[in-house]
Amino acid sequence: MTVSPQTTIRPRERDALLQSLRAGVVPRMGQQHVQVGRVKEVKALLSDINRITDGGSGSRFIIGDYGSGKTFFLHVVRSIALQQKLVTVHADLSPDRRLHATGGQARSLYAELMRNMATRAKPDGGAMSSVVERFVSQALTESRDTGAPVESIIRRSLSELSELTGGYDFAEVIAKYWQGHDTGNEQLKSDAVRWLRGEFATRTDARAALGVRTIIDDSNFYDQLKLLAHFVRLSGFGGILVCLDEMVNLYKLANTQARNSNYEQILRILNDSTQGSAASLGFLFGGTPDFLLDPRRGLYSYSALQSRLEENSYAVDGLVDYSGPVLRLASLTPEDFYVLLTKLRHVQAAGDESAYLISDEGITQYMNHCAQRIGDAYFRTPRNTIKGFLDLLAVLEQNPDRAWEDLVTGINIQRESNPDLAPLAPTTDPTSVPTRTRDILSDQNPADDRHTTNDTDDELSVFKL
Ligand SMILES: Nc1ncnc2c1ncn2[C@@H]1O[C@H](COP(=O)(O)OP(=O)(O)O)[C@@H](O)[C@H]1O
Ligand SMILES: [Mg+2]
Repeated sequence: MTVSPQTTIRPRERDALLQSLRAGVVPRMGQQHVQVGRVKEVKALLSDINRITDGGSGSRFIIGDYGSGKTFFLHVVRSIALQQKLVTVHADLSPDRRLHATGGQARSLYAELMRNMATRAKPDGGAMSSVVERFVSQALTESRDTGAPVESIIRRSLSELSELTGGYDFAEVIAKYWQGHDTGNEQLKSDAVRWLRGEFATRTDARAALGVRTIIDDSNFYDQLKLLAHFVRLSGFGGILVCLDEMVNLYKLANTQARNSNYEQILRILNDSTQGSAASLGFLFGGTPDFLLDPRRGLYSYSALQSRLEENSYAVDGLVDYSGPVLRLASLTPEDFYVLLTKLRHVQAAGDESAYLISDEGITQYMNHCAQRIGDAYFRTPRNTIKGFLDLLAVLEQNPDRAWEDLVTGINIQRESNPDLAPLAPTTDPTSVPTRTRDILSDQNPADDRHTTNDTDDELSVFKL
């Protein structure tokens, strides 16, 4: 097989790509230079993105085994979404970050999403201020063009938001930002941004800083995302794509009630996207087959979800259907893996074929070496084999007197272990106690905050399945 990628690679992209892959993490930029396969999957998601841009919605569950490329795929789709002028937010779920909670974990997920908010101009996150700033500058431009006062243009836009659930305070906060902008009050601007990012811990603080009575907390997690989707359109973006990875953390919740509340939230999101009632908002959920299929703890344990997510019974024996909410990622094949290595060689040489450090024959030998060391899994869970290959290239680059023939069989490659196969955390999960303690300690006025008063203690109680 001969593959000669023709693209040029910018030095910044080259370095970022190699650095992430050698560290064993999925690159955040430049994935197109190493991407293999997934053409149909990407196409399906592109049509979702277009639907979101047209004011529609969409939810997809990206399901694949450990190492099959879920995180990579989410990053690819995210960069496409940014190119298509969507705002993206992304986060990994964890014991401390969930879609539904009563101990602050949903707010914590929200705040993480907001920290990672990205736009085409700010792909690395932290884009909230610039999104709000853009809203203001759009109003200024419109005012210049039409002669209408800025204030009234802003009020008119914000009145649209006020009609949505929780929209009144949201609009108030944006109005405060504008006031800060207009009067040169940086503090007011930054307080408004902090509120939008879910960083106010108590209502008392929010009232003192911005005059609003609510904060973003566990109870309004999803409504706030819907508001935000509406708001980014007012700022001139197409909508929001929410990427949630490591969904297996919900499957791992030992408390049935806590798990079901999270699944109920997913059902709500899914219903909204099929009924089109969450405008300009899309969700991608990355998870393992267990998270989806397990009849006791997976999404299938929640019967309303099972009936919506059951796969097309005609899509068997190699037939595929990319239109349903569940998108299965097959593991990479040896052919994919070969192509991937040629792409890595190309990236490493910064796109200059004459600078390739290893021949096609060398790549084949490297694959044989991997197969011998770790067996069949070498191309299915490719994190370590990619890392090993880049280590080999790095040594070859820095020791020009050595040839790949001398080194290829000496590379030490570790078999990967799937952390999800480790026993489920016991219910006395050590991470749960500090979270709650931290939340309680940070509440200066607990009586003022709903999430401390109706806490059902879902983490601390012990449930046997
Ligand atoms: N389509 C792909 N093209 C190129 N590399 C990929 C692709 N999918 C996955 N990889 C690489 O394979 C490794 C495992 O992928 P990852 O997304 O971390 O898997 P998962 O999230 O499913 O466990 C990563 O190093 C990633 O960069
Ligand atoms: Mg992953």
